[in-house]
Amino acid sequence: PAPVRVALLGCGVVGSQVALGIVTNPIDLAARVGAPVELVGIAVRSVDQELDARIPRALLTTDPVELAGRADIVVEVMGGIEPARTAILRALRSGAAVVTANKALLAQHGPELFEAADAAGVDLSYEAAVAGAIPIIRPIRESLAGDHVRRILGIVNGTTNFVLDKMASEGLELEQAVKEAQALGFAEADPTADVEGYDAAAKAAILASLAFHTRVSLKDVAREGISGVTAADVEWAKKTGYVIKLLAVAEVLGKVDDGEISVRVHPALVPDTHPLASVRGAFNAVFVEADAAGDLMFYGQGAGGRPTSSAVLGDVVSAARRRLTGGKGLRESKDQRFPVLPPEAAITRY
Ligand code: HSE
Repeated sequence: PAPVRVALLGCGVVGSQVALGIVTNPIDLAARVGAPVELVGIAVRSVDQELDARIPRALLTTDPVELAGRADIVVEVMGGIEPARTAILRALRSGAAVVTANKALLAQHGPELFEAADAAGVDLSYEAAVAGAIPIIRPIRESLAGDHVRRILGIVNGTTNFVLDKMASEGLELEQAVKEAQALGFAEADPTADVEGYDAAAKAAILASLAFHTRVSLKDVAREGISGVTAADVEWAKKTGYVIKLLAVAEVLGKVDDGEISVRVHPALVPDTHPLASVRGAFNAVFVEADAAGDLMFYGQGAGGRPTSSAVLGDVVSAARRRLTGGKGLRESKDQRFPVLPPEAAITRY
């Protein structure tokens, strides 16, 4: 089959890892997809930007909107509202599937984008937009589609979790801990989005929309960040058997199938005994309470280039498979790369 053409919009912390994932082929994408996967262009702010030597400079362009019109799959990891919004609309209208990690854009302009995707009959996927590497979008949208979700409690911002954790373990004040988080590269370019809870609020809107089959946008989310949390608060919580976490909460108040939805982000006292209390450093976790399923927890790396690129590339493989099968569903990989040991050898060779 003809190669699947992928355009990459953005080549920062996440984008460069996505590009490397495609051009260095650490997994055999062609075998996973069933056709070669070709990177046809990378939109960047400046063609002089520093770049890993394995990423071909000839692919660089400074025009994301033009690039978005000449691919089968457009991956948007540039962030911000414009020109990301215009480029995604261009891609969808030209019949390309879109994969995005842009939580702010989805939380503010989701309806417009999903309508454009529906009208064009193409996929708009965004597993990387919430909690980085953690598979949480598909489980809520698909695996739990036959259940009633009652409540979601999420630690969905790695920077603030790292900061609160540092304050608790080393007695640091907030400012010092924020500086350390920035140096490690998981904070947003402007850490206000993390510290004041805007990043978590966008993710809360996305999770609530999926869990409750209702449109929730950023302006519906009550928000308080961690800038008011002091070392003394953290110390007091610790002494009384709690940890302070910035939680994204989305829940049904009243009847599970007929109630009102409250969506909010704020620092919360989590009892030491709750599974969310054990989420340390920049890790994320999403705790889901559902009617039939009961309690579920999804845990993993919620920020950083490589972990986030895992979710982006997963969406790329899915979109490419659907394109090749005419939307008829999943295609299983059949590369048979690993010989399977006979059962009598499985233990002896272990
Ligand atoms: N700044 C975000 C975080 C990155 O710290 O979680 C992932 O969205």
